[in-house]
Amino acid sequence: MSAAREASPALDVRGLVTRFDTRAGPLTAVNGVSFRVERGRILGLVGESGSGKSVTGFSIIGLVDEPGEVSSGEVRVEGVDMRALSKPEQRRMRGNRVAMVFQDPMMTLNPVLTIGDQMRMAVLAHARVSKAEATERSRRALETVGIPSPAERLRAYPHQLSGGMRQRVAIAIALLHKPAVIIADEPTTALDVSIQGQILAEIRRLADETGTAVVWITHDLAVVSSLADDICVMYAGRIVERGPAEAVIATPRHPYTRGLIDSVPGETEPGERLPQIPGSTPSLANLPKGCPFQPRCVRRSDQCRSEPPIHEFGSQSVLCHHPLEVVA
Ligand SMILES: Nc1ncnc2c1ncn2[C@@H]1O[C@H](COP(=O)(O)OP(=O)(O)OP(=O)(O)O)[C@@H](O)[C@H]1O
Ligand code: SF4
Ligand SMILES: [Mg+2]
Repeated sequence: MSAAREASPALDVRGLVTRFDTRAGPLTAVNGVSFRVERGRILGLVGESGSGKSVTGFSIIGLVDEPGEVSSGEVRVEGVDMRALSKPEQRRMRGNRVAMVFQDPMMTLNPVLTIGDQMRMAVLAHARVSKAEATERSRRALETVGIPSPAERLRAYPHQLSGGMRQRVAIAIALLHKPAVIIADEPTTALDVSIQGQILAEIRRLADETGTAVVWITHDLAVVSSLADDICVMYAGRIVERGPAEAVIATPRHPYTRGLIDSVPGETEPGERLPQIPGSTPSLANLPKGCPFQPRCVRRSDQCRSEPPIHEFGSQSVLCHHPLEVVA
């Protein structure tokens, strides 16, 4: 790896704005999102449905299409400005230096090809190696994600594998070229809890061993609390709180993060009803002036009708007029 690559963070996102032209008018799905992920680190990107997590992922890998557009901001993968690249150059980066794992593995897998055929194609798209070498790399990738009898699995079709195995194959494909960055968009939500746990543990190990930086997108704070190094909490297209995972979980400063934590099972006695954040995710086409969380926030004041400032608490930061203080 070149010195310049080594010195740059694996992923550096600055001021990303992505808009959609809809019948209800233009809306900003990603509104000035910035974060960086160093090599081998895992960032949990958390928020309710519609908060802009997937659009952030698609914007990073250059897969936002009409009626959407990345209108400003910078995305650097190992220092390379993704938005300055031509479409073919972006395609070369995708799958090679930056890869995405989707919630549904069939977004990656082709149902009419064997796992081996599609993995070999994925290898050969970015590496000049023999077919035998491509097969061997595919087999090793399956082994890495904990797939038993990988040589046999290469001869299988996707429908012959369980959902958990299919998702592992999709992750193996994302890992084939040891990318600098993997964006994993809720890849385990459809799986049962024990399989989720195994996959999460493997992702942690891979990040540690290969230095791949991971953006783990989820609506489930409990999932990232054990997996991520850092957490960014998204609401209505903005990052409203960020910081080291343990700090954000132990001392959330944004009323929305507090609400998310209170609605995680385990904080209540068995049988007790989980508290929910009142109200629902706002329509992006119709946001209140100032802080978008106002209609649901117990701490709101008249001040909240103006843009909230950033407050820093050590390495944690929060976008709010009235952040929560730590109760001693
Ligand atoms: N193709 C599209 N056309 C118009 N608006 C869109 C489109 N895709 C996304 N949006 C807008 O962007 C918002 C954010 O969508 P996104 O898919 O990123 O949410 P998310 O946080 O990934 O939610 P989920 O947890 O349900 O996957 C949506 O609420 C919607 O308003
Ligand atoms: S800025 Fe105001 S409305 Fe928004 S989260 Fe903070 S206290 Fe609540
Ligand atoms: Mg999504």
